[in-house]
Amino acid sequence: MQNITIAIDGFSSTGKSTIAKQLAKHLGYIYVDTGAMYRAVTLFTMRNGFIDSEHFDVVALVSKLNEVDISFTFNVELGFAEVYLNGENIEKEIRTLEVSSFVSKVAAIPEVRYQLVKQQQQMGKDKGVVMDGRDIGTVVFPYAELKLFMTASAEKRARRRYDELIDRGDKVTYEDVLRNVQERDYIDTHREDSPLVKADDAIEIDNSDLTLESQFEKVLELVNTTLDKL
Ligand code: DC
Repeated sequence: MQNITIAIDGFSSTGKSTIAKQLAKHLGYIYVDTGAMYRAVTLFTMRNGFIDSEHFDVVALVSKLNEVDISFTFNVELGFAEVYLNGENIEKEIRTLEVSSFVSKVAAIPEVRYQLVKQQQQMGKDKGVVMDGRDIGTVVFPYAELKLFMTASAEKRARRRYDELIDRGDKVTYEDVLRNVQERDYIDTHREDSPLVKADDAIEIDNSDLTLESQFEKVLELVNTTLDKL
């Protein structure tokens, strides 16, 4: 059977990675979490003291971008690839609310996007890939055979992210998480370089009231229809 490229875009905490991982496992495809790559650059920026709540030294970050090496290694136990920054597993560090609070600013820098998009295109060049992010169907793989655009209300998304953070043992309030979700929605959709928009040929899926099972069934049907048309 021919392999295809599946591009999944949408707002934060819409369950993109959940559906992407399910699909990749089912189809035997590679899954690439591009948000993790932007989060990795953000962690690098924070660790170097280039960003905090008062300042962001973009020039310093751009001059050090050549020192950022992002890679993925498949973890058999977890069933997905974990992200590494210069050889260090940073899967846990990049999921904090602190990283979330800076990531949209870092992701708005054109030099950062240029470098990561190039790497993403390389990773998906042989197809057989499910990639999720904000610009996959519009910029990274504009010719992807199947494009999905995930949405859900900000409140539902904040509740999901809040539950995840609490489960991990993080001390956060629902209000802070909701504010972060809304702020990121705004920055991601208003930035000049590759803003989050639905590609004309993307299929929108609002999963506010969908169970994981029914969402998976629905998406799998779309995959099969796409494969039948090849
Ligand atoms: O999917 P996520 O929440 O882990 O993504 C983190 C941030 O990275 C998100 O707020 C916007 C940015 N991002 C992006 O600009 N382009 C992508 N392809 C993926 C993520």
